[in-house]
Amino acid sequence: MTEQIVILDFGAQYTQVIARRVRECNVYSTILRYDTPAKDIAALKPSGIILSGGPSSVYAKDAPLPDKNIFKLGVPVLGLCYGEQLLAHLLGGKVEKGLRREYGKSTLKVTDARCALFARLPRQLQVWNSHGDKLTKLPRGFKTVAVTENSPFAAIEHRAKRFFGLQFHPEVVHTPRGREIFANFVHGICGCGQDWTMRNYVEQAVEEIRAQVGKAEVILGLSGGVDSSVAAALLHKAIGDQLTCIFVNNGVLRAREAEVVREVFERNFKVKLQYENAAKLFLRRLKGVTDPERKRKIIGRTFIEVFQAATKRAGKAKFLAQGTLYPDVIESVPIGDNPAALIKSHHNVGGLPRKMKFALVEPLKCLFKDEVRQLGLELGLSREIVWRQPFPGPGLAVRILGEVTPARCKILRNADAIVVEEMKSAGLYYKIWQSFAVLLPVRSVGVMGDERTYDYTIAIRAVESQDGMTADWVKLPYEILEKLASRIINEVKGVNRCVFDITSKPPGTIEWE
Ligand code: XMP
Repeated sequence: MTEQIVILDFGAQYTQVIARRVRECNVYSTILRYDTPAKDIAALKPSGIILSGGPSSVYAKDAPLPDKNIFKLGVPVLGLCYGEQLLAHLLGGKVEKGLRREYGKSTLKVTDARCALFARLPRQLQVWNSHGDKLTKLPRGFKTVAVTENSPFAAIEHRAKRFFGLQFHPEVVHTPRGREIFANFVHGICGCGQDWTMRNYVEQAVEEIRAQVGKAEVILGLSGGVDSSVAAALLHKAIGDQLTCIFVNNGVLRAREAEVVREVFERNFKVKLQYENAAKLFLRRLKGVTDPERKRKIIGRTFIEVFQAATKRAGKAKFLAQGTLYPDVIESVPIGDNPAALIKSHHNVGGLPRKMKFALVEPLKCLFKDEVRQLGLELGLSREIVWRQPFPGPGLAVRILGEVTPARCKILRNADAIVVEEMKSAGLYYKIWQSFAVLLPVRSVGVMGDERTYDYTIAIRAVESQDGMTADWVKLPYEILEKLASRIINEVKGVNRCVFDITSKPPGTIEWE
């Protein structure tokens, strides 16, 4: 069984970040609901437990509390923020309402350098706080091992039991040495090795896939995006020709999209690829439609229809593979306003109806996005595929404002190709979240040579984001903007004006529709 750290989620905004920090130490981590019974946790044989932060107060009537028997499992426990207060509250200490919220940076002074959490770290560290309540009395057996100006209990320890509490957040980037604190916990205290790597995971996943599917056939909807591409490469390694990938051309793909997918998977990887060119059908149904939500619905429904028909032609598959990731399967804790719990319904258009009679294979479902990328590289996929920017399922249709017509698709495709090319050659494409062109249904007057033109406008959008939930517009250098505008206006027939979008999210969205 893989060595692992269990993280109990008390509704913190940062629970997934904690899980990623642990995995960055090459130790597997699993997020479980705060009230998971201790016997279920014990069954996983964790090497240690981390209690996440959370928005509640331990003394509130409906405060989320863990099964107290977790403290009897004999494994090290690290409580972070609310997790530290839980340790104190449940083991006999005292937590009170702080007079004011402690928020932001402070300097941690390690008062007991023998505490294994701070091994090989300086006596003073910058840390980041965000809490309202504070610990006022330690439970028996605990002692303070670090303080801040505002907190005499910034870090506490029960050395014999190997229980630790931190008032601050070691998982956030504003605690610069936080990674080392996690490394000290998982390696030094819990005794974990460094076995969790994508190189090792390939072997494990291949075995698991083979064990699950046996000799049966598997189909996979390949979109060309990171997740489905990595899933395809992994499944192909595991089961070769038992896998058929279905790629649907929905008529609103970017330039050369279909060719690239065929080149990479059919020709290089020798994957069995069924190419469904349904561009005409999609575009016929989109004719005259201008409402963004209707466009999404039409594309979503048509995709399912085309995909279902394609699966029938693909033969007798028993399994449907999907590139589901770990954040999609973590059971979210509905406490306070946990942004991780917000799901945007319109982003699920690629989802297939549950009534399709397939068993699911989801070989990426315990991985975070950064791990999926790593795995992709491990499997031999190129950086171009593994680090591609996100692209919406409804494709260019939500970047063509107003009606989607073949002529407009061509204009946007050409403009978008220039944006991608220039961003890549400026070394910016892989550094930012998304950069693309949008076709506005606005025509304006221009002059080209001696001629008067009356053509469309292209908006250039470039945003920085962590997860697409919020975004900042990127301050692209003037030289790049100039090059983009001049190339688009000169090279793309039908465009005579370029504008740059300087809207952040919120209040704007990333896509224009
Ligand atoms: P918005 O426009 O909502 O976009 O700020 C946030 C992120 O989601 C992508 N997006 C979509 N992805 N189907 C998708 O698969 C959609 O309908 C869709 N709409 C937006 C968008 O590209 C951005 O990364």
